[in-house]
Amino acid sequence: MSLYIGIDLGTSAVKLLLMDENGDIKNVVSRDYPLEFPQPGWSQQAPEDWKKAVFEGIPALLKGFDPEQVAGIGCGGQMHGLVILDSEDRVIRPAILWNDGRTAKQVDYLNNVIGKERLSALTANIAFAGFTAPKILWLRENEPENFAQISKIMLPKDYINYLLTGVHACDYSDASGMLLLDVQHKCWSSEMLDICGVRAEQMPHLFESYDCIGTLRPEAAAQLGLPASVRVAAGAGDNAAAAVGTGVVGDGGCNISLGTSGTVFISSAHFGVDSHNALHAFAHADGGYHLMGCMLSAASCNKWLMEDIFQTTDYNAEQAPITADKLGENHVYFLPYLMGERSPINDTNARGTFIGMTMDTTRADLTQAVLEGVAFAIRDSVEVAKSLGVSIPSSMLCGGGAKSPLWKQIMANVLNIPLHSPVSEQGPGMGGAMLAMVACGAYPDVQTVCSRLVHIRSTMNPTPELAAKYERRYQAFKQIYPACKGLFAELVKE
Ligand code: XUL
Repeated sequence: MSLYIGIDLGTSAVKLLLMDENGDIKNVVSRDYPLEFPQPGWSQQAPEDWKKAVFEGIPALLKGFDPEQVAGIGCGGQMHGLVILDSEDRVIRPAILWNDGRTAKQVDYLNNVIGKERLSALTANIAFAGFTAPKILWLRENEPENFAQISKIMLPKDYINYLLTGVHACDYSDASGMLLLDVQHKCWSSEMLDICGVRAEQMPHLFESYDCIGTLRPEAAAQLGLPASVRVAAGAGDNAAAAVGTGVVGDGGCNISLGTSGTVFISSAHFGVDSHNALHAFAHADGGYHLMGCMLSAASCNKWLMEDIFQTTDYNAEQAPITADKLGENHVYFLPYLMGERSPINDTNARGTFIGMTMDTTRADLTQAVLEGVAFAIRDSVEVAKSLGVSIPSSMLCGGGAKSPLWKQIMANVLNIPLHSPVSEQGPGMGGAMLAMVACGAYPDVQTVCSRLVHIRSTMNPTPELAAKYERRYQAFKQIYPACKGLFAELVKE
């Protein structure tokens, strides 16, 4: 039976999985890489680190398996990151990532000088600091020598796909987050390229996520120990890939991801835009579209509190004192804006904040406040979706944070909907492998592979009493950011 490799090119690590076409996961390998914060709110990574992690990780993944059985590779990658290559396809500078907030000035120019209406008409979206177009403007202004050397503009997973195949490709789901794509008509917007001072030949070729962009170049095949016949799918942004991996395709499905970022992903067969542009209107990896809210720091808030502040990696021990009677009773609140925030408040100045502490506040209360604060901020995006008439009766849940039953229970009650966990937790990697299966012809389309391979393992249901308590807490949480907003703007000037 053929095997497929799924690559989840994340922010803290690459996770690789080997899967057969029945969806049985044969092996999983992960390789970490560093993240640089050169200034507060800036976030960068070296594409060479991704390359090393992938090219060392795949041979480790294949250990004990017959590489001749591998038919395809598909990647779901962290979105929006600006990777720039020179005329020799060498990386010019570290990639500026999706959670980087340096572009406040360029976002202001795009949204207020070019204008939100124009941007939305051209791309279906407005500018957010993490999107690629404002980063290109930042580079033009701040690093003109690097800007002048650009031969190709890539997204993170597309750089990996280029190393594998030699093809400069991008899929529609990931391209949507550049603010350079006419999302509805699935082509580069020549007006947006002009606004950013970019020529069409600097952009990669566009594909559907399940298209095959090429086969392995001989040197990549030799390095990976794979046959050169292995086909590489265009792949997808990690959220679209995770939605495929959790079976959220076609019309009206929802997937919530508690990864480094937190996202609410609503799939749709038809193109549609949030008239306030608080949710992103992007293409999906199944050939359709989706709406998405993205908070910049979700599971990363918990990681920060556990590892940087409490200096522990025993997350379970920290959550153990948060017993059932404590849920809905916490007087401490946490605003999870450690990297500023994108959806729905779009504020690079916003900051992480604990509020409501008293002398009897415990370490566990702070832990609980972080889990709850992330759930409340996810609810903010869900509320925007509801205000657009989107109904979300239940959702899939994936990402590292979903491994905590406590967090899942808090999420289900804050959102007051059942949350389903898939059998496999490997959202983007699994989605990547499934896209490769379609690219190799093992399945006719993305819907079919989802219906055959994705199954629900368990469901967390809300309870009326707890959901009512969290409803009151959410109403209180909602008042904190507006009260702090002006102060955040003042504090960053210091
Ligand atoms: C989505 C976004 C994040 C990254 C995380 O718009 O910026 O979810 O894709 O990898």
